[in-house]
Amino acid sequence: MDDFFYITTPIYYVNAEPHIGNAYPTILADVLARFARLRGRPTFFLTGVDEHGQKVQNAARQLNLDPQTYVDEMAQRWQETWKRLNISYDDFIRTTQPRHVRVVQHVLQDLWQRGEIYRGEYAGWYCVADERFWTEKDLVNGLCPECGRLVERIVEANYFFRMSKYQEWLVDYIHTHPDFIRPEWRRNEVLGFLRKPLEDLCISRPASRLSWGIPLSFDPAYVTYVWFDALLNYVTAAGYLLKSSSAGFETVWPKAMHLIGKDILTTHSVYWPAMLKAAGLPQPRFIYAHGWWVLEGAKISKSRDGTVKPLELADIYGVDALRYFLLRDMTPGQDAEFSRERLDSRYTVDLANNLGNLLQRLAQLVARQGGTLPQPGAETDLEQELRALCTALPQQVFDLVEDFAVNQALEKIFDALTAANQYLENTAPWKTRDPERLGTILYTACEALRLCIVLLAPVMPTKAAEVWQRLGWQPPEPLANGLAWGGLHPGAPVSVGAPLFPRKEEVREWNFRELPVRGVRATPKN
Ligand code: MSP
Repeated sequence: MDDFFYITTPIYYVNAEPHIGNAYPTILADVLARFARLRGRPTFFLTGVDEHGQKVQNAARQLNLDPQTYVDEMAQRWQETWKRLNISYDDFIRTTQPRHVRVVQHVLQDLWQRGEIYRGEYAGWYCVADERFWTEKDLVNGLCPECGRLVERIVEANYFFRMSKYQEWLVDYIHTHPDFIRPEWRRNEVLGFLRKPLEDLCISRPASRLSWGIPLSFDPAYVTYVWFDALLNYVTAAGYLLKSSSAGFETVWPKAMHLIGKDILTTHSVYWPAMLKAAGLPQPRFIYAHGWWVLEGAKISKSRDGTVKPLELADIYGVDALRYFLLRDMTPGQDAEFSRERLDSRYTVDLANNLGNLLQRLAQLVARQGGTLPQPGAETDLEQELRALCTALPQQVFDLVEDFAVNQALEKIFDALTAANQYLENTAPWKTRDPERLGTILYTACEALRLCIVLLAPVMPTKAAEVWQRLGWQPPEPLANGLAWGGLHPGAPVSVGAPLFPRKEEVREWNFRELPVRGVRATPKN
């Protein structure tokens, strides 16, 4: 099963509801998984939630709830959000699940027995918000180097993982596996980090201070520290320690691709490889770090006012338009500025005026011919040109997607849609009297639209299904089998329906509504 596709998102902290910065990696992973399925690859798409730790314990306490009740409720809200955003995960892991607790305890016990974990004294600075310990030299002006908040001084006995002993091995591994950390500049960042001596990793908290964690089986007075618990989710879900999983752990695990944000690069590309190495497990295929959605220059986050809520945007623009915008406007690896103006503009220019308009024009032209797709006749250069553009498209799109450049893949598809609209302008079927010529033009343009929409299906699953249903086309399984030119059958019924993306006027109306999205300016245009 060489082409097994295993993609993961980070598991999200459940102490708040999802914001656009969490929706982005989940939608990106969903789109990559859907592309893999479209191509007939066996696929396993994992997401989930990170339920232990100080932040969750505190959030539950504030609501006067016990942590388990609180996480049960929050996990459900995250799942509901993903359902609404059409996230096709195969597994949703929760770190409080018995299957995961068992794996964490097993790995810890094994490492303890083999001397990879030892007891020592910890003196350090702890950032409650990030759940990270920092040493004196890590601090920036005495504050947390990650989030800039105040840190607490803590001295206590704890357990440590001998991470430092893997430093040389890890540097060598990264050098000999140049694709292990992507994009390349993130790899250089990690190598830069590894130039300083690596310290051992504190993996425990005394249960007296933090009870909401997984108890260490060799010392139940302690629970494990959040990253040691969280990272192992990826092997739990891949079937580690399970005798019979449908595709076995040995097959699935080494294919793992971790999609993460740049803020959790060190934990994934330093702690995690060292943990796996110590546990005698293979490394994942690679780690891909994306950038952040920022609002007026600052990261969109749970703790910030003006958080952008994906469901509110989905209510206004529709789920597929939101998915499209998030993927189209983020250059992989880099930060992207979120703005309602950009979202409006993508909606109007790309979705309503380009894609929606093409479908509408074609459906109306076919309706005038009796509502069934005509038979094509001889092609001219114009048809051959459009056909050549569209038949070259799938491979170009697949290559870009493979490289995480989904934004560029979408650009190519929309260029092809623009070309199809332009083709209609050039051939002016509304003026044509020759039925054979008319048939050729309508068939060619419908076929171009069909190929584009098949390639858009991973990003806009609902709209894609609507378009091919209107073109009277039955999608094959896997969908990639429908990417050859000539899939539409002359005689198939083509239907005119409501606009695929209601026009600008309505979008402008929405903008005038009092938006519940705090911190995002409602932007009525003239
Ligand atoms: N629980 C840990 C991850 C454990 S994975 C074994 C965690 N959770 S988180 O909820 O704080 O963040 C999850 C992911 O959301 C991170 O990859 C982070 O980069 C991403 N994002 C949070 N805000 C973001 C933006 N504003 N933009 C894009 N992604 C960002 O860290």
